[in-house]
Amino acid sequence: MSDNKPTYLLGLACFYHDSSACLLKDGVVIAAAQEERFTRIKHDENFPEYSVNYCLEAADITLDQLSGVCFYEKPLWKFERLLLTYIQEWPRGFFSFLKAMRAWLNKKLWMEHIICKELGKVSGIKNKKGKSVPYSGKIYYVPHHLSHAASTYYPSNFKNATVLTVDGVGERSTSTIALGEEQKLTLKEEIVFPDSLGLLYSAFTYYLGFKVNSGEYKVMGLAPYGTARYTKEIEALIEIFADGSFRLKPEFFAYRYGLKMTSSKFAKHFGRPVRNTDDELTQWHKDMAASLQQVAEELMLNLVRYAHKQYGGKNLCLSGGVALNCVANGRIVREGPFKNVYIFPAAGDAGGSVGATLYVNSIIDPKPKAKSIETIYLGPKFSNQMIESFLQDSGIKYDKIDTAADRAVKVGQLLADNNVIGLFQGRMEFGPRALGNRSIIADPRKPENWKRVNIKIKFREDFRPFAPSVMADKAQDIFDLRGVDSPYMLLTAGTKVKDLPAITHVNSSARIQTVSAEDNKPYYDILSAFNDLTNCPVVINTSLNVRGEPIVWDHIDAFKCFIRTDMDILVLENFIINAEEVDKNFFKTKFELEVFADD
Ligand SMILES: [Fe+2]
Repeated sequence: MSDNKPTYLLGLACFYHDSSACLLKDGVVIAAAQEERFTRIKHDENFPEYSVNYCLEAADITLDQLSGVCFYEKPLWKFERLLLTYIQEWPRGFFSFLKAMRAWLNKKLWMEHIICKELGKVSGIKNKKGKSVPYSGKIYYVPHHLSHAASTYYPSNFKNATVLTVDGVGERSTSTIALGEEQKLTLKEEIVFPDSLGLLYSAFTYYLGFKVNSGEYKVMGLAPYGTARYTKEIEALIEIFADGSFRLKPEFFAYRYGLKMTSSKFAKHFGRPVRNTDDELTQWHKDMAASLQQVAEELMLNLVRYAHKQYGGKNLCLSGGVALNCVANGRIVREGPFKNVYIFPAAGDAGGSVGATLYVNSIIDPKPKAKSIETIYLGPKFSNQMIESFLQDSGIKYDKIDTAADRAVKVGQLLADNNVIGLFQGRMEFGPRALGNRSIIADPRKPENWKRVNIKIKFREDFRPFAPSVMADKAQDIFDLRGVDSPYMLLTAGTKVKDLPAITHVNSSARIQTVSAEDNKPYYDILSAFNDLTNCPVVINTSLNVRGEPIVWDHIDAFKCFIRTDMDILVLENFIINAEEVDKNFFKTKFELEVFADD
């Protein structure tokens, strides 16, 4: 820019699930957040007004300083796919058609108008009649899978890479292979709707009684408890081709035309009806989850091997919702043909806002960038001053620690004394994982901690495992990571030691976060202090929230989570709150919080 003013691009992903916004300044992502954290509605799909507001505030700019707004898909392409599908299936999809059309006619068909209007509301600028002035700048629409591809290629810092995106469905594509060459991203091949690995996984998520678009993690967590004895039966639903592509046999799936994922023929094929959410999870369900997981891993590996055979290279970038399957990712790293693998941490649709802006930026300013993302801690942070005011105003007892070094030692000691700790510090993570700034941490050597954190703190299913955070410089001694790092908790690998029951899955694997001082010094220092006392460089790390709620975003939410659960300690930046000194019931009433049955 000749006037040396920075260029700002705002990214948006919304109106399906996991709405988000991000802000690029001169090609670098400086802020990003998911709307669910602010609204407390899990997977919130609405226009991300709070996230947009946060992004603008983080840069201290107003809407009129934006060079453009980038949307993570092309709505009309999606509408066209829907219409064509309903025409092909007619009259089968009549009720689903009515439901879809209502949403499109009310909102999605007028996307530009809606986006401009909603942005105008966020800006707060009013006309003479007191109405918000809509945004009137440029809006760029980036195809959904190109957004996914850009979200992983540009942050990877690979000069050249093969980029594989796999999800449920974008506009039409369900998987794509693109090439990233010298900052230029080119789509090469695609698999299109209705053939979709993401929708196959979601169909089984539905069949096993979990919620589509959020319960997929649970199916993955259930799989190690089963034996993959039904892979042949699952493969009978799929035609797999030599190039890694596949076709789902349409008679077994109902998502093209219905409000359900699977057809009656699907249930007949497996000999059991769809599981109701509250029904018992039997060994059969666990075996089905294991079988599905194995088939999904093989399909992913097929795609990766094909992409390498066809396009060569040593670098692979992965994105799309299926790239959140950390067990499949672990196998791609260990067994796949690529030397280096990068997976964007917000690989699901929330990351689309980042991808859309990075793609548009690569077109309008194609100069190579040193780094397009410097950290994944892209959300809001809260000062010690703000936190202390809240604690004092609310009459909450606390200890204040003056220095970062003292704080790390103190928290390390509390962990070694077997306290379960809520850790709230620094900027909020972007993506589905808590990576040490909005986390619950505990000693992984104690077998009882797994059950305690699962049942008394997270209030969630007891089969779900916890992930470990480990000092990056000690990770290879403990986990079978084959020399790679896993900074975003996106890889599963075997454990080499036997004394970490709380983070080791029944199949001896763990979903690992490697923590370096460069990525997160305060967190690394806590792990290091714990290691000094115990010779254990690993902690349990699970997100700071209770079941069914999004991860907390501010210190007030963190405190509310603390008093609703059996946590021992809450660390809010430099302040330490001990459950023994807080009357949790008093504060539950004060904050008008739901009281859990087992409290
Ligand atoms: Fe997607």
